[in-house]
Amino acid sequence: MSAALDRILRGKEICVCAGAGGVGKTTTSAAIAMGMAARGKRCAVLTIDPAKRLANSLGLSELGNEATQVGAERFAAAGLEMKGELWAMMLDAKRTFDDLVEAYAPDTRSRDRILENRIYRELSNAVAGSQEYMAMEKLYELHAEGTYDLLVLDTPPTRNALDFLDAPERLSRFLDSRSLQFFLKPGRTGLKVFGRGTGLLFAALKRVTGVDLLQDLSEFFQAFGDLAEGFNERAVRVSKLLSDPRSTFVLVTSPQRDSIDEAVFFNRRLRERNMPFGGVVVNRMHTEAGSRSSNGALGDDLASVLDEALAQRVARNFEDYRALAERDHENVTRLAAELKGEPLIIVPYLDDDVHDVAGLAVMNEHLFA
Ligand SMILES: Nc1ncnc2c1ncn2[C@@H]1O[C@H](COP(=O)(O)OP(=O)(O)OP(=O)(O)O)[C@@H](O)[C@H]1O
Ligand SMILES: [Mg+2]
Repeated sequence: MSAALDRILRGKEICVCAGAGGVGKTTTSAAIAMGMAARGKRCAVLTIDPAKRLANSLGLSELGNEATQVGAERFAAAGLEMKGELWAMMLDAKRTFDDLVEAYAPDTRSRDRILENRIYRELSNAVAGSQEYMAMEKLYELHAEGTYDLLVLDTPPTRNALDFLDAPERLSRFLDSRSLQFFLKPGRTGLKVFGRGTGLLFAALKRVTGVDLLQDLSEFFQAFGDLAEGFNERAVRVSKLLSDPRSTFVLVTSPQRDSIDEAVFFNRRLRERNMPFGGVVVNRMHTEAGSRSSNGALGDDLASVLDEALAQRVARNFEDYRALAERDHENVTRLAAELKGEPLIIVPYLDDDVHDVAGLAVMNEHLFA
């Protein structure tokens, strides 16, 4: 079944665009937010790492966690009527993490101790899923503030769309993990875990490098202990918000087999968890073009207007494209069967990269058809 996005998003306050790497999540998120804003909503798109040209055209020239309004003149230039407001924000995961530490640290001294800590700096960049998690944190915060009618969340380029869904749980698990708890109680067992040999190694390291790693570690785990609980509670609340009926997941996929397989899997997982599923956007689809004349016949037709070698090349290109279109069509048919009537929206492979408001407008003709 096909359905336009305005129908999928009716009554929704949060739309999460998830999907595998490179399928068009960032572009789709921006287009959705723009489309709903044009229809009168106050929308914000929380985007992650957009292509530079897209960022520029949304007015996101600097990195920052602040929302920027996309000026009306940009829409007017693209011949668009904007009834609402479009705001864009480029998420900076590390900064969000730091803001959280600030919010939960009991006092400024422990805050600074954490932020300056070498281990923290590594960890906040590297905790598995921290980027996904931070994106959702920001989403949670903005939703609680209630400034926007609709928040559209772009998700980071994960290997796997499910990584995103699991992020809050993964962070909770990490915070609950026995190994972390072990460190968080330095009184009893604490850093003795390193034993004499390791102690000597750290001492040697300190002499040579001047870096007191042991001190860093011990400070980090002491300070982090105070935060762990706050983080954990938030992770639970973020998860709740995402399964709320006011939220919806839109899955973006390419029409390629692997990507479709993943979409099918993702859809099942959402259903298992009773998460709100809005529908699938199949992006960059090769759509059927021209008549179904056989290769030879097309070559003959072309030969009457082009020289023969060129005619053959054009005909071959055309056939290649048609094979792609056929393959895409088969994959999407398989997906549609799996979706059992849930919304499926197709966006064709556009001639140009989508890097400005005009490009987003073209995309919207398909998303909101
Ligand atoms: N329908 C389309 N037709 C043509 N080009 C497209 C289309 N959709 C997206 N693109 C282009 O494909 C590229 C990748 O899109 P995008 O950055 O949105 O993907 P992504 O899923 O966010 O990637 P990542 O996982 O790396 O964040 C961009 O250059 C974008 O302009
Ligand atoms: Mg992206």
